Amino acid sequence: MAPAIIEITNLCKSFGNKIVLNRLNLTVREGETKVIIGRSGAGKSVLLKNIMGILRPDSGSIKVFGREVTQLKDKDYNDLRLKMGLVFQGGALFDSMNVAQNVAFVLNEFRSPSPQVVKQKVKDCLALVGLNDVESLMPSELSGGMKKRVSLARVLCMEPRIILYDEPTAGVDPITADAINHLIIEMRDKLGVSSIVVTHDMNAAYKIADAIGMFYHGQIIAEGTPEEIRATTHPVVKQFIHGLAQGPITDGEQLIFGHPK
Ligand SMILES: Nc1ncnc2c1ncn2[C@@H]1O[C@H](COP(=O)(O)OP(=O)(O)O)[C@@H](O)[C@H]1O
Ligand SMILES: [Mg+2]
Repeated sequence: MAPAIIEITNLCKSFGNKIVLNRLNLTVREGETKVIIGRSGAGKSVLLKNIMGILRPDSGSIKVFGREVTQLKDKDYNDLRLKMGLVFQGGALFDSMNVAQNVAFVLNEFRSPSPQVVKQKVKDCLALVGLNDVESLMPSELSGGMKKRVSLARVLCMEPRIILYDEPTAGVDPITADAINHLIIEMRDKLGVSSIVVTHDMNAAYKIADAIGMFYHGQIIAEGTPEEIRATTHPVVKQFIHGLAQGPITDGEQLIFGHPK
């Protein structure tokens, strides 16, 4: 079995009296794409932000490349972020910068290479995500799918060993979604990247996952290969993957967790 690259144990995170992560356990192995499924507002983005050090957990352990990171100072976390990138839900591009400036932003911030090197790198990373001659476009001129690709190109610029994807196919048409799924598979197969992909798109999950974990009530309550999850008899997982209104997951329960409707 490949070594663990991310190892999360008993992770807890609350906002006020709202428990979002409740002793969550999760392991991602080298070269693996792990898909996390779960309802909106469940805490999936909070999980990714805790791994990236954007949010800090209340307790529990996160080991990345075998190193405990929950106690890292912000400065030391920046070193880790050179090897681990997050593709944000909406792309999180800077509106006032063109595509090239957006893609090069982290690279310039942390590595400050020469302008020629940056230019070539930006071009190469955009080509990797299937974009050519878009360097001078502004984010407002891009479609939702293009924004997500540019966001991925920005992460790829850093040659990360780990990529975390937050809802990479949400809000894009099915054809663009398929292209993004292929990109995620390519990152694993060509570059050997290890990933966590958060989604509620079951088509995407089945297509790209080595393993799928169901996030529910602050924990990963079930995990398996796409085939195992498809065939699950777990009532919560079954209800979620088939999108049924009837079952153990109710809207009332969402209210206990205080989610806005
Ligand atoms: N910085 C924050 N401060 C307070 N509450 C937050 C913060 N970030 C997330 N939350 C809350 O945590 C819950 C989980 O949010 P999120 O992780 O964004 O859900 P998901 O990504 O699964 O849709 C939500 O109820 C949200 O309001
Ligand atoms: Mg989210």
